[in-house]
Order: sequence, then C-alpha cells, then structure tokens
Amino acid sequence: MSSMREAEPAVRPACYAADGASSSGRGIARVLGENALLAFPPHAFEEEVVNRRFFGRRQIILNRPAGIQHILIDNSANYRRTAATVRMLRPLLGNGLLLSKGEDWRYQRRTVAPALAPRTIPNLSQHIARATRSVIGRLAAASEGPVDLLTEMQFLALEIAGRSMFSLQMHRHGTELRDLMMRYSDHLGRPNLLDMLLPLRIPSPRDIARRRVRKRWLDLIRRLIAEREARACGNRPGDLFDLLSEARDPETGSGFSGERLLDQVATLIIAGHETTAVALFWALYLLAVTPAVQERLAAEVAGVDLGPDFAADALARLVYTRAVVNETLRLYPPAFTLVRQARKADLAGGITVPAGAVVFIAPWVLHRHRRLWSQPESFDPGRFLPGAPPPDRFAYMPFGIGPRVCIGAQFALTEATLVLASMTQAFHIERADSEPVVPIAIVTTQPEHPPRFRLRRR
Ligand code: HEM
Repeated sequence: MSSMREAEPAVRPACYAADGASSSGRGIARVLGENALLAFPPHAFEEEVVNRRFFGRRQIILNRPAGIQHILIDNSANYRRTAATVRMLRPLLGNGLLLSKGEDWRYQRRTVAPALAPRTIPNLSQHIARATRSVIGRLAAASEGPVDLLTEMQFLALEIAGRSMFSLQMHRHGTELRDLMMRYSDHLGRPNLLDMLLPLRIPSPRDIARRRVRKRWLDLIRRLIAEREARACGNRPGDLFDLLSEARDPETGSGFSGERLLDQVATLIIAGHETTAVALFWALYLLAVTPAVQERLAAEVAGVDLGPDFAADALARLVYTRAVVNETLRLYPPAFTLVRQARKADLAGGITVPAGAVVFIAPWVLHRHRRLWSQPESFDPGRFLPGAPPPDRFAYMPFGIGPRVCIGAQFALTEATLVLASMTQAFHIERADSEPVVPIAIVTTQPEHPPRFRLRRR
C-alpha cells in the first residue's frame, strides 16, 4: 500500500494539552462552542474509552466497537440527542427528519427514503453534471487569480441540493440563505454553557434570540417554495417536494403540511449541502497539497465524458476518485462527532453508562485512532482501493451507522465523486499561499480561514 504523507499536518491534539482549561467543565464548554476538535484529549486517540466529568454529569468518548454497536444499533432507543444539539439545530431544522423522534421519525424516514434511493442516481447525476459544468465554466473564464474554493463548493452543493430535490434554482436566494446560515452559525448556532446545562423545557437566554432567527428562516423557505410553485404553473415536477406534500401516513392518514413541510425542505437542503461542500473542499485541499495523488486522479478522469448524459455511467470507472473521496472523509469527516445522551442507565459493550451520561462517538477520533489505523495521519487513498482490506465498520463511519445512518450517503458520495472528477479534469489545483490550514469544528469540520487556491486549465 503506497503511503503518502499529508504535506501539512492536521490539527494537533497537543493544542488540547497546551490549554489546561480544556479539561475543566468550563474549558470543555468553551472549546465545544469555539472548536470542538480541541475537546478530544490526546489519549482519546489511543484508548477505547475516555471518561470525564462535566458539571456532575458523566461524559464518555467511546471508541470500543462493541459499545458503539450497542448504543447506535442494538439499544438505540435508550439514547437521544442532547439538549445542546437540539437547541443549536432546531431553529433551522425544526422537527424535520434529523431532529424528529419515535413514530414521527419512522414515518418521515419511510416517506423521504424512496426519493434518495440508489435508483435516483442517474437523475441526480444529471443535476450534478449541469451545475458543476456551469461553475467550472465560470471559474475557467475568470483570471487565474486566487479562488476561495470553500465558498465555491458551498454554492455548488447548495445549487445541486435545491435543483435535484426540490426543482429550486438557488442562485436568486442562495446568497440570502447562506448569509442567514453563516450569521447563525457564527453566534447563536454555537452552544454555550447554559445551552448544555439547562433541560430543553427551560428556554436558555439564547433560545429567545433563536426564535427570531427561526421566524426569518421560515419566511425565506416559504418564499423559495412560493417561487417554485409560481414557476411550475400548476405542473408537478414529481420531485421530492411533490412526494412530501402528497405523502400520507398509512397508519394515521396525516401528511406534511405547513411548518412540517417547511422543516423537511430545510432539513434536506441544509443537511444535504453543507456536509458535502466541506467534504469537497477538503478533497480539493488534499489534492492541492499532494500533487502525485492529483495527477493519478487526473489520469483516471482524462477523456471520461462527465457530461449530464454520461456522468452516471462514468461512476463505475471512477475507482481512484472514489477512493480519494473515502480517504478525505476519513481524515476530515464533516460530521466530526455523533452525540447521544442515555435515558436510562445501561451497559454498552462492558462499559457502564449512567442515566444522563453524554456519549461522544466521534468519527474525528475513530478515523485517526492509533490502534485502529496504520499511519492514521497519512493521506493514503490506497486504503480504499479494491483489494485493500476493508476498514472495520465501527472504525470508519463518516455517515454514522444504525437506524439514524445518513439518508443521503449515496447522494453525497455520487456528488463528491463527480464534482471532484470534473474539477480535476478541468484544472491543475494548487494552493495560492502557504498559510497552515487549521480544521475547526462547530457543526461541521471546516478550515478556520478559507485558504486561497490557484486553478490552471489542463
Ligand atoms: C459528505 C456528506 C454527508 C455526511 C458526512 C453526512 C453525515 C451524516 C451523519 C453522520 C448522520 C447521522 C447523525 C447521527 O446519527 O447523529 C447523518 C444524518 C442525516 N443526513 Fe447526512 N451526511 C452527508 C450528506 C447528506 C445529504 C446529501 C443529505 C440529504 C440529501 C443528508 C441528509 C441527512 C439526514 C436527513 C439525516 C438524518 C437521518 C435520520 O435521523 O434519520 N446528509 N448524516
């Protein structure tokens, strides 16, 4: 297996050790709101279980496969999302698929699943190819000046999500939507200590301000949908929006209407674009700093027709490109941690979990764990090529696992593979400066400052 050292180091868990405050309750709360990656101590990358106290409550960083299987699959009903997660996400996602629970969740999942099933890939690939072609055309027409590929990928992924799921052209409202999201995630979307300690039934001071954001957000989604309806002039495009608005629960006969429909649209657009956009950003960054990998990928895609009519068929040939995507998701998992809180006391793979304990099952830690990977810090797509031993299912889980596994995983993998292939087919991708790129995590794993790139036509 060829091993390629990543040219620039990832964030060092040593930052944690250098800041003694990050092992106290207040210190943990602070880093969770600023850069949650620093809340994982160095020994978490070597041990199966790390226990610590957080204002009288147990926190567990869990790397033991049997424990993960128990919590996310075998006894998942005993675990819920934490109050802080719900507070952060609810203003934008409401009670859509990601935050719903119990019977309501089961119904939503059954309804949405067909629209994201593998048979939709050919149609999806057409949307991806069209939107990517237009971005590449624009980038190629611009001068060779520095480009912010994080922002470019965020707009591209938003356009793909809007067009493919809801027949929405995002260019008109995309900027407004992203501005609102960014302003929210810079301040109110970050949990503070009270968000973590207060039970959900007691509003935290920030919850009051979050209600105002929710109102503005719902207004925006309403306008997006109204515009779609006006353009469709009574014709039903037969997309996910139509499917959701027509769906009826066979048991209760109820459907998605009003705010519930808006929440579903918002959930799928947000969950469906921000994660894929940052994955694409990290993949392009890794290609820029490892030219040998970039050239091998370019050789694979040279001459392949990635246009709207052929992109879906091309996927089977993009074996190395897909390995680069998988390895990127290992080193920079956009969803850096899954967090669950135990309803009742439990025993998970031999580990005692008291009632109320908060468990972190963190792809960021699992994917760089020294006992689970050889040379975990190296960028080596060869790990995911056919013939390499497959990773353990609990050591590699960028999309989670169990009943709440990501419903858009195939969508995301198709999009990331096709966009990466098209970008590398069109350009030599280089960094425009040599500033270190530091990953930070609040909701997703992002660069602290978006670095600039230089694109040269191939
Ligand atoms: C690289 C891209 C993506 C990554 C890394 C990712 C990651 C994840 C993870 C880890 C979860 C499980 C969370 C948990 O168990 O707490 C999840 C759930 C979810 N994802 Fe994704 N996701 C991606 C793309 C997408 C796309 C493209 C869509 C929609 C088209 C999507 C929609 C959702 C939804 C709705 C859920 C909640 C599922 C449920 O609770 O039943 N995601 N995602």
